[in-house]
Amino acid sequence: MRGCRSLIAIVFCVALGVTATGAPAGGLQDDTNASAAGPPVPPAPAPVRQPDGSVADLDAKLVVCDPDAPPVSGAGVTSIFEAESPPTREIRELGFLVFAICIGIFVVVQGFLALAIVRGIRARRAARAEGAESSPEPTQVYGSVPIEVAWTVIPTIIVFVLTMITIRTIRDIDITSPPEDALEVVVIGHQWWWEFRYPNDAGEVVTANEMHVPIGRPIWLRLESADVIHSFWVPRLAGKMDLIPGHTNYTWFEAERAGIYLGQCAEYCGTQHAHMLIRVYADEPDTFDAWLDGQRKPAVEDPTVAEGRRVFAEYACLNCHTVDGTSDGMFGPNLTHLASRDTIGSGFIPLDRANLRAWIDDPAQLKIGCNMPSLKLDAAELDAVTDYLLTLN
Ligand code: CUA
Repeated sequence: MRGCRSLIAIVFCVALGVTATGAPAGGLQDDTNASAAGPPVPPAPAPVRQPDGSVADLDAKLVVCDPDAPPVSGAGVTSIFEAESPPTREIRELGFLVFAICIGIFVVVQGFLALAIVRGIRARRAARAEGAESSPEPTQVYGSVPIEVAWTVIPTIIVFVLTMITIRTIRDIDITSPPEDALEVVVIGHQWWWEFRYPNDAGEVVTANEMHVPIGRPIWLRLESADVIHSFWVPRLAGKMDLIPGHTNYTWFEAERAGIYLGQCAEYCGTQHAHMLIRVYADEPDTFDAWLDGQRKPAVEDPTVAEGRRVFAEYACLNCHTVDGTSDGMFGPNLTHLASRDTIGSGFIPLDRANLRAWIDDPAQLKIGCNMPSLKLDAAELDAVTDYLLTLN
């Protein structure tokens, strides 16, 4: 019975490891490559599933991620085993310990089983050699106090040890107040993108989908939702934590090495749940401060794209998007510094002119179910708005 239980535990552990490392890595790999696209990505018409389930070829204006593009350093891996933050490291160590204990139990139980089988076979052979007609009965043991005590006490101790180290890990990770010197970031989940707010005395910075953090400093996340339940998960930095409407959750991480860490929504939240990707840019503190200062600046007012700004302000764009000084919509991502980002569509489409233009033309063609409507702009208006948005760095 215990052998069976151990076997189940091991299969479970292995399955858990495989899912945790395999699933997001596959899903995010394309995104990684997307960000790496220094040179322009070649157009690659991709089959996209239509709402009715059929697969249609998009025309060449859709530029998708180039599978041959080199990965951004450090960004390719989303494995929970490549922990780069205290909480994920503790979770990984706990996982290894539980796995090792399970392996130990498995080996001991299977060892006794093998021993019993071998002894039974030998006894039968010996009996046959002596001319006996049937195999001898094994020694029957009833009510052995030492055995009963052993198989009650040993599992109790194992469960007790597992409970205590699990409680210790939870206590370290699931803290209720920010670590000392933590940087607070408010994370708001939307269908299907992420809003990041940096409350600050010098003025709040609002951005979307790409979170910048300094390395070597705890990041205290305040998690909220604008619509349904989402879950924040960046496997190398922090365990999953839900974003729940009307309820605030907290979690934290501390990136130890500079790089880009990929994550994604880990709670099914509707059609585009799988394309609700997170990119965490862990920078040297100076680089981070420079980024924060840049984001705090007012939107660029480039006179050469006045026509695009006019189109943006005359159509419904301004109802949903904020561009400081031009509009203050709240439903969609803040675009004040859009051009400082690497991606659009919540991390799965590289930001370049062709993709941005295709997105504005008809977002649903790139991201079916997306809440941003096509405004049916004509070609000249599309070009103007695209050029305008690309000046917002
Ligand atoms: Cu948001 Cu799944």
